[in-house]
Order: sequence, then C-alpha cells, then structure tokens
Amino acid sequence: MESLVSPPFLKTYAGRRVFITGHTGFKGSWLSLWLHTLGAEVVGFSLPPATPPNLHETLGGKVFADEIFGDIREMQAVNAAVAAARPDFVFHLAAQPLVRLSFAQPVETFEVNVMGTVHLLEALRTAGQRCPVIIVTSDKCYENRGWEWGYREHDPLGGHDVYSMSKAATELVAQSWRRSFFQTDARLGPLATVRAGNVIGGGDYAADRIVPDCVRALLAGRPIGLRSPHATRPWQHVLDCLSGYLWLGAKLAGPTPEARLADAFNFGPDARSNQPVAALVHEFLQHWPGEWRDESRADAPHEASFLHLSTDRAAQWLGWYPTWDFATAVRETARWYHARHVTGADMAAFSRAQIAAFTAAAAARGLTWAKPS
Ligand SMILES: NC(=O)c1ccc[n+]([C@@H]2O[C@H](COP(=O)([O-])OP(=O)(O)OC[C@H]3O[C@@H](n4cnc5c(N)ncnc54)[C@H](O)[C@@H]3O)[C@@H](O)[C@H]2O)c1
Repeated sequence: MESLVSPPFLKTYAGRRVFITGHTGFKGSWLSLWLHTLGAEVVGFSLPPATPPNLHETLGGKVFADEIFGDIREMQAVNAAVAAARPDFVFHLAAQPLVRLSFAQPVETFEVNVMGTVHLLEALRTAGQRCPVIIVTSDKCYENRGWEWGYREHDPLGGHDVYSMSKAATELVAQSWRRSFFQTDARLGPLATVRAGNVIGGGDYAADRIVPDCVRALLAGRPIGLRSPHATRPWQHVLDCLSGYLWLGAKLAGPTPEARLADAFNFGPDARSNQPVAALVHEFLQHWPGEWRDESRADAPHEASFLHLSTDRAAQWLGWYPTWDFATAVRETARWYHARHVTGADMAAFSRAQIAAFTAAAAARGLTWAKPS
C-alpha cells in the first residue's frame, strides 16, 4: 500500500479528538476513515446507518474512539455528546440530505437540518468548547438564477425545494451564531461553512442518487433507469470535497488563524466535471458494463437546474484545488463498488488505498495540503 503520510494534515489531526456528526453516512464514513488514518481520535454522533449495506459497517468499528447513537433533534442528546466528546475539531454532516425525500418529509427535513445545527452550535456555545467548527451545507443553498458562471460565496441564498431551503437556512443559522457568539466569545473557536456539489464515491447507498441507482440495477442485471438523463451536475469525488473540509479545518486550527477563514467556502469540481447524468452513467459503464434507459417523466418533482460553484475563494485563501477529474472520479467510484460487490475485496483496506492514491495524486499536482514538507 502507498504511504498515507500527508504532513500538513498529519501534524494537525494526529492525536486530536474530532467530533463528526453524520459519521454513519456516506461522507461521514469517509471522513472518519481519513481522519483515523491521520491518527485522530474520531468520535461520531448520528443515527444508526439507514441502509443495508452501508459504508459504516464496511469500515468496521475500529475507526472510532467512540460512537454515540442519538438524534440531533434532541437538545439533551447533543449536549451530552459534546460534553462526552470534548472535541478539538467539529465537522457537522448530520442531515436529511435528499431533495426528493424533502417533498415527502418537509418538517423532518427542516428539523434535522436547521434545528439540528442550532442544537449543535448551542451545545458548543454553552460548553465553551474552543475548537474549529465546520458546518456542511450544499451548493443547493444558493438562489438558483440559471447562471452559466459559478456561484460565489456572497451570492444570494435561496432554495426552491425544502432541502435546498434548509441548507440556505443552515447557512444563515451559522452566520448568526458566528456573529452573535463565536466571533465575540473568546471561549469559542472559528466557525465556517462548506458548500460542495454532487458527490460520488464508493459506499453511498442512498435512494434517488444516480450512482447507488446504477449499482442496484447492475447487481440486479437490469438496465439503469434515468429520470433526468440530460440534467447537468457538478460531479465531484467524495475525497475531493473532504480534502477541502480537512484543509480548512487545519488552517482554522493554526496558531494565528486568519479571521477571514471563519466564513463560507465552496469546494466544487473544475468546470469540465459539469456533465449530464447520461455522461456519468456512460463513463461508469466503461468500468462495469451494462445498459441504461431513459425514464424521464414530465410530472417529476422540481430539482434545481444547472448550478456551478466558483472555487476562487478556496484557491486564493487556502491554495485548495480539485484533484481527481471527472473520468478519474467515476472510475474510482465504479472500482470501489465492483470490488465490494463483485470481487469481494477487503473494503477497509481498499478504501484506505484509495485515500492514499488520492493524496499521492494531490501531491503530484503540488497541492499544499498534500505536499511532503
Ligand atoms: N452526498 C452529496 O452529494 C452531498 C452534496 C452536497 C451536500 N451534502 C451534505 O453532506 C452531508 C452528508 O451527506 P451524505 O451524503 O453523507 O448523507 P447520508 O444520508 O449518507 O448521511 C447522513 C448522516 O446524517 C445522520 N442523520 C440523519 N438524521 C439524523 C438525526 N435526526 N440525528 C442524528 N443524525 C442524523 C445519518 O445517521 C447519517 O450519519 C449532509 O449535510 C448533506 O446535506 C451531500
């Protein structure tokens, strides 16, 4: 296996306690594994995994110093978890993350995404927990104007569907708590928000997402039904957006962190990764052969049209750039599922090797976070 050593991250996270909400989910599981490889003590707080199979069970419990299963809608549970974790870093990913489900469960989506964030920030505030806090929202937090250029961090927030609105509201909650408490109370640390696009990678089994839909169809030996083959999305490998979250966390933890970094950041792919769903599926089928068919319907629930993130702020302030291009991101995603479901590989080892390969690719690109010092 290639070396997992990544000096800037290693120095920051080794031996530190990192509290991750949403640790049983797709992105949270990858983040937990990555931090574990860097020597962090990861404490997770989430509901139990929602789907069989799931990435959390695939990785095994050794990744976590502690796991707390609770509901972020319950203030007492969040208070107790923060008190038990005594974190040096917080990454907040717990959410109801599906646009379609937000039409069926609007109240729950609002409660989990918005009030869940309020509960976490209040728990940190009342505990006087001084640490960098990174709140994960979404590219969908922006008011979608149909622009062909990238959305910047100061563009207006909005949201047609309840999920998107809940992420815009989460941004406002974070801004308000930052201005009212985190910036003014010396006991508290810097608070930032991060917005990424459509994330792909191994181990996602959510309903109504294109890659899990592909895998389910391929395993069942049927064609992949595409509801929106021409919808264009900014596809990004999960390790790419996580590299941004981790690097921002590292910069916020510096001895004299720049005050401007306690703000919102986009972590999106480069413009060539804005591809139609059909192109993604075509690319996926290069690595796991199969067929797809058009199942678009005129009465489908509204989903935002094309939306591209400008990553100029991340580039200028953090020296962060995407690492894997579209073809590589899709290939590595297909390889993961094929290894898991067809080859029967040891997926914890396979996933660690993907993190190592990703880090090596970032180092070869000269990205600051991955460069050996
Ligand atoms: N996957 C993407 O393409 C994408 C894109 C943009 C933003 N995001 C955001 O990234 C974050 C993680 O997304 P994901 O794809 O890993 O989602 P996921 O559904 O795989 O994981 C969600 C996590 O939240 C936890 N959770 C849900 N309700 C909870 C509750 N009431 N109490 C405690 N925990 C609860 C789940 O247990 C799980 O651990 C979310 O905030 C999501 O909105 C994801």
